[in-house]
Amino acid sequence: MITNQHIPIMSNEILSFIDKEKKLSILDCTFGGGGHSIKFLEKGHSVTAIDNDEFSQSIAKKIKKDFSNFLFYKINFKDIDMLNIKLKKFSFIILDLGYSSNQLGNNKIGLSFKINSNLNMNYLGGKLTAHKIINKYSKEELERVFYNYGEINKAAKLAQYIVEQRSIREINTNFELIEILRNSGVNFRSKKIHFATQAFQALRIETNSELENLIIFLEKVHNLLESNAFLAVISFHSLEDRIVKNYFRANKVKKNKNFQNSENWGFENLTKKPIIASNSEIYENHRSRSAKLRVGKFIN
Ligand SMILES: C[S@@+](CC[C@H](N)C(=O)[O-])C[C@H]1O[C@@H](n2cnc3c(N)ncnc32)[C@H](O)[C@@H]1O
Repeated sequence: MITNQHIPIMSNEILSFIDKEKKLSILDCTFGGGGHSIKFLEKGHSVTAIDNDEFSQSIAKKIKKDFSNFLFYKINFKDIDMLNIKLKKFSFIILDLGYSSNQLGNNKIGLSFKINSNLNMNYLGGKLTAHKIINKYSKEELERVFYNYGEINKAAKLAQYIVEQRSIREINTNFELIEILRNSGVNFRSKKIHFATQAFQALRIETNSELENLIIFLEKVHNLLESNAFLAVISFHSLEDRIVKNYFRANKVKKNKNFQNSENWGFENLTKKPIIASNSEIYENHRSRSAKLRVGKFIN
């Protein structure tokens, strides 16, 4: 049995955007271990939460026993419009992107390069696995994944080496992959991070369609926001953060309700620079070191 190990990130910073006097209707699109949802519920807000993870669903079942103003749906947030909450609007929507510490520690998912596991990395229950990408993708597709999602400069060289190695023997585990990365002759970017970080990030983004999910969700989210609602997004890598930054920029509300887009709605950008975790939070929770929080206020 897995125990909940996820520590919510920047909770105080998130709560600072919420008027203490008001009771809000909040949509938590990345329930995870329920950390943020519980903080909202404890303050008396109503929470609708979603996550496509089974363990999250089991945590949600327990929370439901304590809070009557809590709903949970097991879906991908890109399909948010499929829920029967279609006609409902929210005063605060939060996305805390990526995977939870519970998923990182789960060797069936195999996101960690510290735990040897079968190549999978799919934490959203989809069909694509890192095993399929590594063993079946063409050289060109591998190069695309490593270049676009891992920002690996020598992506072509890495793809070529993987194709050669898999023709000798199928690549089945995280540790086998790490050995191949080590012997590939590619200089990975930073000495500060584990050399496999970029390649693992690339495979995880591709396996879970992380960027597509975010883009599709952002195309729909304005339908769920009431006037003056907040949209808060925590991202963990520059590719996600860029999408969020550009979304707020493209849908900016200028002075006198002059909207950047042609749809008569927009966002007041409340975080010109993204908020990052405090030193004390980073000290207590290492995962918070790469988190960036952007918040916009919905105007229509
Ligand atoms: C960083 S964790 C969230 C942690 C949570 N805020 C907490 O405090 O416990 C991200 C969660 O979002 C979920 N998730 C990521 N992408 C998703 C998607 N496209 N649809 C549904 N859930 C998603 C993951 O399954 C994971 O549980």
